[in-house]
Amino acid sequence: MPTLTLEFVKQLYAHADSAHAFDHVMRVTRLAVHIAEAEGADVDVVRVAALLHDMADAREAHHLEGARQARSLLIGSRPEFIDAVAHCIEAHRFSQPPEPKTLEARCLNDADKLDAIGAIGIARAFAFAGAHGNRLWSHPLDEIESRIGENREAYRRLHGGAKDYTPSHEFICKLERLAETMYTATAREIARERHAFMWAFFQRLDEEAIGAR
Ligand code: ADP
Ligand code: NI
Repeated sequence: MPTLTLEFVKQLYAHADSAHAFDHVMRVTRLAVHIAEAEGADVDVVRVAALLHDMADAREAHHLEGARQARSLLIGSRPEFIDAVAHCIEAHRFSQPPEPKTLEARCLNDADKLDAIGAIGIARAFAFAGAHGNRLWSHPLDEIESRIGENREAYRRLHGGAKDYTPSHEFICKLERLAETMYTATAREIARERHAFMWAFFQRLDEEAIGAR
């Protein structure tokens, strides 16, 4: 197994877009380790899994492909350690199975969700919109909500790539619900403030966009 120096990890992410680049990996690693310490999880497993969690290039299957790549990278470590890290990576997607079964996998899953909300979450949604030529704002939140209807995930799957899918749509379809899906009490606590900040931001954005403020 190579030593996971930050230099080594950094070059694993040379291909990544701005929402999944090395700085995302470093934020998630810091959060995941913090959560792991507070929850009494195996910090070594969580740290290694967090550093490697987005290493695979295949966007749609990057959790499964990443778990496979991590297994080969970690050859020579204890088999239980490799299994534990691989499970964290395969279960880090909050929109895709498998569900995290271990405390360590829950720590990483929560850390990755925390990086999608709050000020950073807003920044990532706008970076995504900019990179894909999407509009910054199109309609107030309540209009978006009534257009989208009940099945928000289906709407996101269908319209996520469209030019008029804005960060406010992403907020309604995905980001707004992440705080309530945290597995650990430590992440739930951090999520509370991030969620409130993000909520206030998107309300304010509506007011400025329609010229009420
Ligand atoms: P995952 O890494 O689990 O596959 P995604 O690729 O869906 O997650 O999302 C990564 C980041 O990009 C998140 O912060 C998400 O909010 C943002 N993002 C993804 N799709 C869009 C979109 N269509 N508009 C705005 N932000 C998006
Ligand atoms: Ni990912």
